[in-house]
Amino acid sequence: MKPIWAILIIGCGIFLQPPMAPAAELIRLPQPALKGSMSVEEALQKRRTVRLFASRSLDLKQISQLLWATQGITDPRGFRTAASAGATYPLEIYLVAGERGVRDLPPGLFRYRPENHALELTLKGDLRAEVARACLSQSWMADAPVMVVFAAEFKRCTARYGNRGVMYTHMEVGHAGQSLFLQAEALGLGAGIVGAFSDKALSQTLKLPKEHEPLLVMPVGYKY
Ligand SMILES: Cc1cc2nc3c(=O)[nH]c(=O)nc-3n(C[C@H](O)[C@H](O)[C@H](O)COP(=O)(O)O)c2cc1C
Repeated sequence: MKPIWAILIIGCGIFLQPPMAPAAELIRLPQPALKGSMSVEEALQKRRTVRLFASRSLDLKQISQLLWATQGITDPRGFRTAASAGATYPLEIYLVAGERGVRDLPPGLFRYRPENHALELTLKGDLRAEVARACLSQSWMADAPVMVVFAAEFKRCTARYGNRGVMYTHMEVGHAGQSLFLQAEALGLGAGIVGAFSDKALSQTLKLPKEHEPLLVMPVGYKY
């Protein structure tokens, strides 16, 4: 082919490409600390489901630590803090930040991006009261400065393990939830845990993508 034709074909190809979606803006989180002041044993001993929270903001360092403990990447091969069947990683973690819930973070819903250890804003505004309503009106939840929502894209796991992958994904959310519980304790915070909610109401409130099915909500903050 003559060079002029090659240039024309490549040029038309570029011209006919669909417009690129704008890259989502990421809020980088501070690096998590790998040493703390409380032992695992003490955190295990102290862990309780907390349902009363002080009206005190968290900071980005605490959010970084909490999300890293929940689903952070700890190995160049992509392995994370919590085990995953076949390393299929079906979990998606969202942060609901309340008004003045986190210093230097506007109220809204953020998707945690483990590969960048960053947050991506997906919805603006304080959604805590609506989330509490979707959780069968457990109004105590709305007093926590933040909530961590665990969702799962089951097909990542079921594509490899069939129906058994559903069970594996449910197990995995338990592992990640316990990591968050222990990290909250180790930071001098407390976490609640909520499985009683309307799947539909919660998905609608958070406008989750259809394939991200909510499994658990954990409010986190200073204990009252
Ligand atoms: C899967 C699961 C779902 C739960 N759902 C709720 C809930 O919707 N509301 C609530 O107040 N507590 C909920 N809990 C918390 C339990 O009530 C609590 O773990 C239990 O009473 C033991 O107390 P502890 O966690 O302080 O040890 C849930 C716990 C688990 C493991």
